[in-house]
Amino acid sequence: MGKSLNVFFHDKHVGTLAEMPDKRIAFQYSKDWLSNGFSISPLSLPLRDEVFVPPQKSLDIFHGLYGVFSDSLPDSWGELLLNRYLASKGIDVSTLSILDRLAYVGASGMGALEYRPAEKSDFDPNKNNLDFDALSMECSAILSSKDSDQLHLLYELAGPSGGARPKLLLNENGTDYIVKFPANTDPSISGKREYDYSICAKKCGINMTKTSLIPSKICKGYFKTERFDRQKGSKIHSLTMAGLLETDFRHPTCDYSTYMKAIDIITKGNKEDKEQMFKIMCFNVMTHNLDDHTKNFSFIYTEKKGWRLAPGYDLTYSTTYYGEQTTSVNGKGKNITDSDMISVGTNTGLPKTFCEKTIQDIKKETASLKGYLSLQNDAKKRHVSWQERVKEIEENGIKENYNDFKTKDEVSAKYTATQNATLNKKISKSDPNLSGT
Ligand SMILES: Nc1ncnc2c1ncn2[C@@H]1O[C@H](COP(=O)(O)OP(=O)(O)O)[C@@H](O)[C@H]1O
Ligand SMILES: [Mg+2]
Repeated sequence: MGKSLNVFFHDKHVGTLAEMPDKRIAFQYSKDWLSNGFSISPLSLPLRDEVFVPPQKSLDIFHGLYGVFSDSLPDSWGELLLNRYLASKGIDVSTLSILDRLAYVGASGMGALEYRPAEKSDFDPNKNNLDFDALSMECSAILSSKDSDQLHLLYELAGPSGGARPKLLLNENGTDYIVKFPANTDPSISGKREYDYSICAKKCGINMTKTSLIPSKICKGYFKTERFDRQKGSKIHSLTMAGLLETDFRHPTCDYSTYMKAIDIITKGNKEDKEQMFKIMCFNVMTHNLDDHTKNFSFIYTEKKGWRLAPGYDLTYSTTYYGEQTTSVNGKGKNITDSDMISVGTNTGLPKTFCEKTIQDIKKETASLKGYLSLQNDAKKRHVSWQERVKEIEENGIKENYNDFKTKDEVSAKYTATQNATLNKKISKSDPNLSGT
């Protein structure tokens, strides 16, 4: 693989990436793109004829890339699959440069950017009749560092998906979807919980793509959502907040006021987007979505509408090890009050009456998620882990419906006991703990 790679959008040459001696990756727009294109990352890569060199910190946070290109790379799940897949083909992954990895992304990345010359990729979202339960358990096996004879299928289906949780990217009758599986540490209700959160978020007036729940025999279902970076078969350019601001999503670096400023700058102060961000902030604070990091927000660009805030996603119960919102509200990560939220809103020009009413409306709507919050708050107050709390509930038999909160591994074990012999054999080969015997 050479030390440069070309970037394309809808078959138009956007520009060229080139590796510098210190491993940072410089970028230059093509002449054509400078005349007819748009800035793919307005704060870092304005449409100018120059060689852009990312800051030194890019080596720590984006493998030496500008954030917009790093957005095309898979996050931990996709990276794990790619590494396992390449290793199974005898390729030494430690020798791969970041441009090699983008070449494996090729035309399959999230968003619309494509990389050429591409390495051969087996990504194929057009699959039918999938057994989601079996795939979910294969994901568990891979997450537990076990072998999986479905590695190739999972790799074909995951593509360079983002986020930490196992995912599939599917195309069904021309529409593109993401399906999420629980991580091994997630409770078995996590798919249903994210679905219920999405329904509630929509009732709160938050724009989200169509969401649904895929039935399962081993858990309460798998969360499925339509992709906003694909519309009627066309690829939409998207940029995460982390990519736009060139910031490390793993650390708390931003306040919701920062996001309001970002909206001001790149959407030219779009009021609807600020209202959306305000609603998402209130929702996250009220529903214990602490993991509101900079990769959980995106912008999309279309010729017709310019830059706009993308629909909300990953709006679900989450924790952080420091127990605070990753994105602060009026400078605070916890004990956030209504007046903190109102300050974020009014400081960006939203009317106080809008902020107050939105808070009241979202409080009312999110009461429907109380069931999810009370159990976990109870556990949190007493400083016991999720898993311990689940055990406690089972031992004391406090409430029938708390059975919903069993861990995924526990439920899987029960399921496998009743599964057909072939599946059982496959699973026990990859993970004896899941065999249910
Ligand atoms: N509906 C969607 N359309 C397009 N991209 C999405 C959508 N939902 C999530 N994504 C992208 O996929 C990534 C992972 O999804 P997310 O729901 O955040 O998963 P995780 O729980 O693993 O963090 C996100 O960071 C975002 O870039
Ligand atoms: Mg996420």
